[in-house]
Amino acid sequence: MLKTKDFLDEKDKRLRLVSKEVSFPLTKKDKELISQMIQYLHDSQIEELSEKYDLRPGMGLSAIQLGVAKRFFVVVYEYEEGKFETYVLVNPKIISNSMEKIYVEEGEGCLSVNRPVEGIVPRYARVTMEAYDIDGNKIHVRAREDLSICFQHELDHLNGILFIDHIDPKNPYKGKDQMRPI
Ligand code: NI
Repeated sequence: MLKTKDFLDEKDKRLRLVSKEVSFPLTKKDKELISQMIQYLHDSQIEELSEKYDLRPGMGLSAIQLGVAKRFFVVVYEYEEGKFETYVLVNPKIISNSMEKIYVEEGEGCLSVNRPVEGIVPRYARVTMEAYDIDGNKIHVRAREDLSICFQHELDHLNGILFIDHIDPKNPYKGKDQMRPI
């Protein structure tokens, strides 16, 4: 079972690596890692379990946050109270995006950033991603609002980018008036 301490902290240079494309079939180890990531994200969003196991809540994780520089991420999205949809995207890329930009009003969070960070991150309101599922089938996934933000945040991880990189500390709310808060 993964614990919050297993995730690399922002100071760890491995988070700056550009992760490598994955070939199929996935290794047994990678598949196991994916199940563990899913379980963590699911349990961490259920209050009773997050308290019991001391899990910091999160909805997305990229392999590199566990020190594995491979291009895949997992998102467990609570679309309705107590109901979760799981997304596993391997070798993902954005194939289309909205012109409209949005941002998380209270600021983004990351399981690798363990401090409060002031500022907002511009993100596309809607994206379509092309990726592969765990069996190597090509998939297209459309996401909007918070799910869209989460996908873009995770894709950034695969390119060695953290959300804090998008924030100018001298002007942490730059562009706020041109975007919609969510
Ligand atoms: Ni993150």
